Amino acid sequence: MAQRESWATRTGFILAAVGSAVGLGNIWRFPYQVGEFGGAAFLVVYLLLIAFVGFPVMLVEFTIGRYTERNPVGALKQIGQGISSKIGWVFVVAGFVILSYYSVVSGWILQYIVIGLQGNYAVGGAGAQFGATTGGLPSVLTHAIFMAAVIGIVAFGIQDGIELSVKLMVPAIIALLVGLAVYAGTLSGAGEAYAYYLSPDLGAIASNWTDILPAAAAQAFFTLSLGMGVMITYASYLGEDRNLAKDGVIIVGLDTLIAFTAGLVAFPVLFTANLTETTDGPGFIFVSLSEAFSSIPFGGILGAVFFATVAIAALSSAISIMEVVVSYLIDEHGIGRVPAVMALGIAIFLVGVPVAYDQSSGLVWLTVYDGLANQILLILGGLLLALYVGWFATDLGLEELNKGFRNLGSWGMVWIWTLRVPVIVLLLVVLLYNATKVYGSLTGIFG
Ligand code: TRP
Repeated sequence: MAQRESWATRTGFILAAVGSAVGLGNIWRFPYQVGEFGGAAFLVVYLLLIAFVGFPVMLVEFTIGRYTERNPVGALKQIGQGISSKIGWVFVVAGFVILSYYSVVSGWILQYIVIGLQGNYAVGGAGAQFGATTGGLPSVLTHAIFMAAVIGIVAFGIQDGIELSVKLMVPAIIALLVGLAVYAGTLSGAGEAYAYYLSPDLGAIASNWTDILPAAAAQAFFTLSLGMGVMITYASYLGEDRNLAKDGVIIVGLDTLIAFTAGLVAFPVLFTANLTETTDGPGFIFVSLSEAFSSIPFGGILGAVFFATVAIAALSSAISIMEVVVSYLIDEHGIGRVPAVMALGIAIFLVGVPVAYDQSSGLVWLTVYDGLANQILLILGGLLLALYVGWFATDLGLEELNKGFRNLGSWGMVWIWTLRVPVIVLLLVVLLYNATKVYGSLTGIFG
């Protein structure tokens, strides 16, 4: 077997994981979820889940990846028995579905860069503009362009493709977003926006927690790229015994800071424009934010920079999803990287075509794909991994976490017990809740 690739530098792994984590989840989904679920109330629940559920599950993925040095399907085949050896399949299915619609939404982002450069935000109505973007041939075309970029990077492999590109992309995302947030802070609506964004209404959490909790859990998994083997795959390319917990803290911390900064851009722009009505949900940054950009000074250029930042973040995430499935074909079926990437890229493009072409105003296909993958498969994947390492492969997990950690002490058992009870119970509850909700919305759509 050919020599397995590994990261070229110490920072390569961290930047790749940050690049994976920071994406549409932070800049497209996070602000609209904050808007939908009550501002700062959502933020608080989300931060708690990131720390007490996301971080422990990330360590599970890291330990499995570094221990097995294999793709997620092969990794679970190697260490699991019976049903647990099949967990990797959940990841491959999730990867196909997620990347297919992720690329479609990223294509819309590309269109909004162009619209901004032309100075055309909200011309003819922001809602109508979004409608024209999200369906038909333009949407299929930009989906194809984005997938081509993903294919192009992943085809070059770990060091020359993913690592090199994230070394450029991650610093660019941070610099652009911080610059935008600073500018947004000078806008007239900034004060009001910060008040909305930063002062949690504890009463709102108490009365809506059954909605907030599942949404925040799904968001935490999505934004940290958990539950489908990305972090298993990336850690499998780590030759050395680094301190995985320390790397995890850096990755989780940066991802959270960047999501937070995205809010510092979006809300001041929005409050400054004083829109009478905002669009919730997936259309939020496209409809409401682009309309807001159309009314502030230099809005076209600012909007173009904003959407370009989102596009870079989306690309650095999409390559990680692709790498999971590619690494599976390379490891388990001995297929060469380039043919594997090409075949998968085309297949995933095709899976996304219904989402791209969909001209329904409710974005029905997007709702179906996102419901299935994000609300169900990711949570299921995370739950199975937590169960497996928490209760069955505890020694493996502890031993692997301990490497590079001079003295893990009782933190190891704190981690294991966090997985064993709170993480598992929470994910189980969220999974059942989401499954019922998705089932309900599917029967609503198709029934
Ligand atoms: N984390 C990315 C985001 O926030 C999306 C992503 C990349 C992802 N890889 C993933 C989500 C794996 C779930 C699983 O946009």
